[in-house]
Amino acid sequence: MKTVGVLTSGGDAPGMNACLRAVVRTAIGAGMKVYGIRRGYYGLVYDDIFEMTQDSVSGIIQMGGTILYTARCTEFQTETGMKKAVATIKKYGIEGIIAIGGDGTFRGAKDLTKLGVPTVGIPGTIDNDLAYTDFTLGFDTAVNTCVKLINNLRDTMTSHERISIVEVMGRHCGDIALYAGVAGGAEVIIVPEMPYDSHRICEQMNSSKEKGRKSNIIVVAEGVGNSETLAKLIEQKVGIETRATIIGHIQRGGAPSMFDRILAARFGVYAVDLLKSNVAGRVVGLVDNKIADFDIIEALSVKRKFNTELYKVAGILSR
Ligand code: F6P
Repeated sequence: MKTVGVLTSGGDAPGMNACLRAVVRTAIGAGMKVYGIRRGYYGLVYDDIFEMTQDSVSGIIQMGGTILYTARCTEFQTETGMKKAVATIKKYGIEGIIAIGGDGTFRGAKDLTKLGVPTVGIPGTIDNDLAYTDFTLGFDTAVNTCVKLINNLRDTMTSHERISIVEVMGRHCGDIALYAGVAGGAEVIIVPEMPYDSHRICEQMNSSKEKGRKSNIIVVAEGVGNSETLAKLIEQKVGIETRATIIGHIQRGGAPSMFDRILAARFGVYAVDLLKSNVAGRVVGLVDNKIADFDIIEALSVKRKFNTELYKVAGILSR
């Protein structure tokens, strides 16, 4: 394979730029031509493509977001959109594509492979919701950002002797809430994977009040929602001022952590090696700290297992 394309798609994640750097440098080093595809699959449908050089990826390792921009492209899911994408791919002589993103991006990569365009996926999403890999790119940084913000909230909540409800991202996957909650010393962690009872939480806050605890942090995953409603209920039932804070997109930006930069480098080099050896329809992942590749369809069908061991640890430590 002599000419490859690379794109980032779906929600941006810290480490995507570091990964682009790894892909571009590895491919150029192997004598390949590399095209950057802007805005994910849109760039293929609407022919927004440029040749990348060593310089295109200089000074980006520390940058959050993605220099290729990103989008969730609905046109690509239509037959006309796919035909246009294939035509663009042919026009530039692209023989293989590396797609960095989450499950939506992987579904696109699967379709491209079916259309005869060898594609390799790299898991880049803060959600950590791809079950076949231990970690996705960007998750570590997003959790670290949330932990820093929880620390800040702890300061102000302790000063005012208040309760804080902190909502973090994750619609179906509670991993950001779980990891940020444990690392931030949260008293309660609410995730979509586990049932919760708001009255039990009120009882816990009451007993915490009796013990003289000065602050309580409740971390809630976006998918559970209702942070404001829960805050009002707790205030009413427990009689302690309660504030809800939705961290939102702040947790998606920022310089990638060491962990994400290393992961980005390893994923990027591995993915190019796969295309170089004409292996496609694969996704790369991290299993027991080793980089490995998996069939894209199988990887998408792996059922996520919630980390109940860590959830139990959280329960023990919050007593
Ligand atoms: O998939 C990444 C993610 O940040 C989710 O955690 C969140 O639910 C979603 O994207 C938000 O999407 P948008 O940026 O389109 O609002």
